[in-house]
Amino acid sequence: MEGLRGHDILTLGEFTPDLLTFFLERVAIQKRASIATGANYRPLAGKSVAVIMLKPSLRTRVSFEVGICRLGGTPIMLIGEGSAFSRGETVQDTVKVLERYVDCIVLRTFAQSHLEEVALHATVPVINALSDDYHPCQVLADLVTIRERKHRLTGLNAAYVGDGNNMANTLLIGAALAGMNLTVGCPEGHEPLPEALERARHIAEYTGSVLSVVRDPAAAVADAEVVITDTWASMGQEEEHAERVKLFTPYRVDADLMAKAAPGAIFLHCLPAHRGEEVTDEVIDSKISAVYDEAENRLHAQKALLTMVMG
Ligand code: CP
Repeated sequence: MEGLRGHDILTLGEFTPDLLTFFLERVAIQKRASIATGANYRPLAGKSVAVIMLKPSLRTRVSFEVGICRLGGTPIMLIGEGSAFSRGETVQDTVKVLERYVDCIVLRTFAQSHLEEVALHATVPVINALSDDYHPCQVLADLVTIRERKHRLTGLNAAYVGDGNNMANTLLIGAALAGMNLTVGCPEGHEPLPEALERARHIAEYTGSVLSVVRDPAAAVADAEVVITDTWASMGQEEEHAERVKLFTPYRVDADLMAKAAPGAIFLHCLPAHRGEEVTDEVIDSKISAVYDEAENRLHAQKALLTMVMG
């Protein structure tokens, strides 16, 4: 789409509500078309995309590689330490060389400032494939999944319970763009980033979305038609695991918590899940769970995103 051609996608705040609507419609059309006709749509033919993963990944890595291939492009997979950004070469030199070979850079890294520095030097679009602060590709897939299951986003009530992490930050922005109401339920000291909430509230002034952060998980899910959670210890926080389990246990999504949500509520989790911690088997394996559709939609959402930013 014209509106995102050549743009970086670092937080999801690069979208406008209209661009999100266009994006969601495009995903739906492309998904139907690819299921019906196979692989005749090849807008990335002759183009290459560097996919750099500095943290572990299953879904993001595979869905980008498969998606780029299905669009006719060539994925250049740079996986793990030693692949890029770890040999003492400056970010500027790495990016300036890389963009002589590729038409887009997809990067999973730690600090958001690293992504911003890459984007500063790059003349090709840079897509955030997860940072410590934001996970835009995942939230785009979540919005696609909610729209498929609930047939609308505007005015829908959603809840996120658990750690106010990169998913919570990005869901706030995504919900605001979609006009969806979102209540985040999290313990004190683990709230979403203030700048993410501020940016989301700014967008919500236009879309009418109601955004709030509460302590009580039951209050968070009351009236929610979608309940979302994520791991309690994100990548790099493994040493805090035992302490976090104690703190976050009241936020576990189990059958009791789901019973407090709206009738017909669905459950989302970006995966990988720590079964028995943030979600119980009876919820994630039940028919209200949309987690595998959500994972599949990473592929469809990223294909649409790549075609939009790469033109
Ligand atoms: N949800 C998600 O980003 O999965 P991976 O870490 O496996 O890529």
